[in-house]
Amino acid sequence: MITLGIIGCGDVAFRTYFPGIERLADRARVAAVFDPATERAERAAARFPGARVRATLEELLADDGIRGVLNLTPAPFHRAVNEQALRAGRDVFSEKPLTGTVAEGRALIALAEERGRVLLCAPAVMATRRFRWLKTLIGDGAFGRPTLATGQMANLGPAGWADYTGDPAVFYTKQVGPLLDTGVYVLHAITGLLGPAKRVQALGGVAIPERTVTIPSRAGETIRVEANDQMLLHLDFGGVTFAHVLSSFAVPASQAPALEVHGETGSISLALSDWYDGDGPTDLYRPGAPGAGPDGWQRAVRPPDTREGGRNLIGSGPEHFVDVLLGTAEPVLTAEHALHVLEIIHAATTSASEGRVEELETRFGG
Ligand SMILES: NC(=O)c1ccc[n+]([C@@H]2O[C@H](COP(=O)([O-])OP(=O)(O)OC[C@H]3O[C@@H](n4cnc5c(N)ncnc54)[C@H](O)[C@@H]3O)[C@@H](O)[C@H]2O)c1
Repeated sequence: MITLGIIGCGDVAFRTYFPGIERLADRARVAAVFDPATERAERAAARFPGARVRATLEELLADDGIRGVLNLTPAPFHRAVNEQALRAGRDVFSEKPLTGTVAEGRALIALAEERGRVLLCAPAVMATRRFRWLKTLIGDGAFGRPTLATGQMANLGPAGWADYTGDPAVFYTKQVGPLLDTGVYVLHAITGLLGPAKRVQALGGVAIPERTVTIPSRAGETIRVEANDQMLLHLDFGGVTFAHVLSSFAVPASQAPALEVHGETGSISLALSDWYDGDGPTDLYRPGAPGAGPDGWQRAVRPPDTREGGRNLIGSGPEHFVDVLLGTAEPVLTAEHALHVLEIIHAATTSASEGRVEELETRFGG
């Protein structure tokens, strides 16, 4: 049984992590929770029998009864909390991003290695059943050599997300922005399927500099947009394999797929509407393959072994963490992969402001 500590009991904790952890009752239990907002910590603890509310982060981390922690704080706190947890001897699963900068990410990975601790990072795209299956299909040559991926995460951001319970302002600061908030999902998917990229070039800017919050509890508040809310990235993987990604908080609505991957002989298409379903349906273009229609498409294919109900993409993170700690899964959501995506995001922002192609240094295996 893996004992967990929860750090940060906000929107994502209640929305997806807690339901995800409750499904792991045979493998994990929440032993302690901490949030500076005590009411939220108490509400969180009430969901898990035996869980204790800790008054400070230090108190939670000092508890040797806790094996691993889930860092669900807002992005600007991630590095400090992750580092403190590793130094206290805890294994760590961090919400994205791992750290603020690439240099901090490298230092954090070195610290985890030095202390012999597990350090994993969201988003959990590559741990879902759907993306494990797609990676195997691509690796088996089901679509020929991959040549191109296109991804899009484009909306107006959390200022207009009616049932969001956190403060949406942080998502428009330079420490977050659309690339770190949602573009990160398609970047993990594309690099998870195609491997590390070698170069990036980007265009971007602030298209809509001020937002009026429409979340009912905060209606009328205004937010100044500091991070580029429009980012267009091109990635070069070498060997004439490319990707194009649109990451935006300045698109009112879109019907474009979240992700398409094209090989020499076939294509994969994922709708945005099913993006967060870890078992979600996928359209495959494989003319002549068993199950393909006369137009070559096999529509709404589910990964094999689909369990009833499907699994949430975000909820797959804590499950993977627990299985890695139990030794029943190999780490997929590695800090090295998260660091590579973080480097892409920072290099893209530099490319957009400097007007040049940026070489990427980080690599990851798997
Ligand atoms: N909300 C979502 O659906 C969603 C989805 C995917 C990822 N995420 C990521 O999850 C993280 C949290 O987002 P959220 O939407 O839950 O934000 P939130 O503001 O709703 O919740 C964050 C919580 O962390 C607490 N907190 C702040 N500083 C802390 C500290 N030093 N130690 C412990 N707790 C602290 C806050 O009091 C708050 O309760 C972010 O990195 C976000 O990008 C959120």
